[in-house]
Amino acid sequence: MKIVLASGNKNKYREMKEAFGPLGVELIYGGDMNAPIEPEETGKDYEENALIKARAWSEALNMPALADDSGLEVFALGGAPGVHSARAAEGSDADRTEWLLSKMEGIGERSARFVSCIAIVFPDRDDPLVYEGICNGTISLKPSGSGGFGYDPIFIPAGYDKTFSELGDQVKTKISHRAMAIKGIAEMLIPVLQYYAVRTMENSRSLQEK
Ligand code: IMP
Repeated sequence: MKIVLASGNKNKYREMKEAFGPLGVELIYGGDMNAPIEPEETGKDYEENALIKARAWSEALNMPALADDSGLEVFALGGAPGVHSARAAEGSDADRTEWLLSKMEGIGERSARFVSCIAIVFPDRDDPLVYEGICNGTISLKPSGSGGFGYDPIFIPAGYDKTFSELGDQVKTKISHRAMAIKGIAEMLIPVLQYYAVRTMENSRSLQEK
């Protein structure tokens, strides 16, 4: 089965592309589909936004679509920037990490967590799959490392003493919020893939009988 990633974010694709191979699923990069689909993310939480994106891509391309909606929640800031992480401040990823560090100046309590909600929508099924993954950690005092994207240079996952940017994809694809969400959604996907396999078999049998 082919599933399109409902996003032109190459970093997200890089972190997810290998994960579905063992299930026989090919994840197609949305940015290669020559179909700029950018629905307004008007949801009140990650799940609503993930469903908005997955539905828009699945309807436009008439194929299964997978969307990730994610964000960084900082305890001392009451969970901000949260669902607004991508637009928390004008400019680049580096501008947003600087914005967050300035908000946290003088704050000793630096607990935070990344959340990723993954939704898969199928064009011929009413029931989407949804799963949320979490990665706990802390916000560093300054940016370190050059890998990853977004707030990776200032997020130190629990159990480590380096940022996601320093740890790189090898660690991130095992322990991140997105990795956790992928693991959960992959388990939910197995019976759906079986359903499609049986349906394909039955269709080809009834064609042979005609
Ligand atoms: P989305 O594309 O609307 O889901 O926006 C997610 C935003 O949250 C990104 O633009 C980043 O700012 C932040 N974010 C989500 N996941 C990560 C991650 O794995 N590393 C760093 N930042 C992330």
